[in-house]
Amino acid sequence: ALVPAKQILDEAKKGGYGVGAYNVNNMEQIQAIMDAAKETQSPVIIQASRGALKYASFTYLGYLMKAAVIENPDIPVAMHLDHGNSLESAIKAIDLGFSSVMIDGSLLEDGKTASDYAYNVKVTKSVVEYAHARGVSVEAEIGTLGGIEDGVGSGTIHLTDPQEAKKFVEATGVDSLAIAIGTSHGAYKFKETPKLAFDVLKEIRGLINIPIVLHGASSVPKALIDEVNKYGGKMPGAQGVPIEQLQESVKLGVQKINVDTDGRLAITAAIRKVFTETPEKFDPRDYLGPARTALKNLIVTKMKDFGTAGHA
Ligand code: G3H
Ligand code: 13P
Ligand code: ZN
Repeated sequence: ALVPAKQILDEAKKGGYGVGAYNVNNMEQIQAIMDAAKETQSPVIIQASRGALKYASFTYLGYLMKAAVIENPDIPVAMHLDHGNSLESAIKAIDLGFSSVMIDGSLLEDGKTASDYAYNVKVTKSVVEYAHARGVSVEAEIGTLGGIEDGVGSGTIHLTDPQEAKKFVEATGVDSLAIAIGTSHGAYKFKETPKLAFDVLKEIRGLINIPIVLHGASSVPKALIDEVNKYGGKMPGAQGVPIEQLQESVKLGVQKINVDTDGRLAITAAIRKVFTETPEKFDPRDYLGPARTALKNLIVTKMKDFGTAGHA
């Protein structure tokens, strides 16, 4: 059933487990995630970025996400807008039936960065007011991760200031808070083995009482990168957040774990394999099918690793 993300994440906070929020752009991704949720009996957050909604169109992607809910009446599902950048984008998603929205106050409507605390509070409050009146959850963000959020991929990171996070939560009334503790979007997160700022996470957890969100939390598994490269890809130096550090984050109080890149890698590896091994194939089902299966298997593993399995 469709539920607000708040319901899923509050439960996760009580139970001490993490819930993956998986990005979707098309039917196969949605089906893979739902198959994994069904198999592992996990609550799930399916999320669409503004880019995804532009690629597929609001209507196509929104209705595909709704189909996921209809097909899985026993699984708690939240439909979430990822990295909304304005009240307008939140309204559009909510009117389409999303049960949760992120307002990323570090983004301006023109895509440029606005690391302005006052602007963040103002735009977040406006979204909270509209969303809460309709039973929709709101995620906001304090601190910056680098990657896509600074628009240039320079990887500039400003870790979240715990006191500012506390002040922000009190000022806005948001339901969950994305924090920056050293994660980063994309497949090239780090130059060396990362070490998330657990001390900062602990301090924030001690100061705020709502669920905490980690963006840029893909692990970029070496096995997937090797597979992509083996079948003609070229992704040297790709690196992500080791699963052990995500599990430690969950222990310390993170509830929502955003994953997009790892799913992209699983899909790409599977499609490259089909194209390389059976170049005579040309029916999209012959490569999108294996891609869907590969993504499902990846997410089953994540649902077990994050502790989501069995909590549907
Ligand atoms: O946080 C970003 C997600 O990975 C979505 O990426 O804007 O390319 O759809 P996208
Ligand atoms: P990754 O690029 O690490 O998968 O992060 C995805 C994300 O944060 C979506 O909002
Ligand atoms: Zn993100």
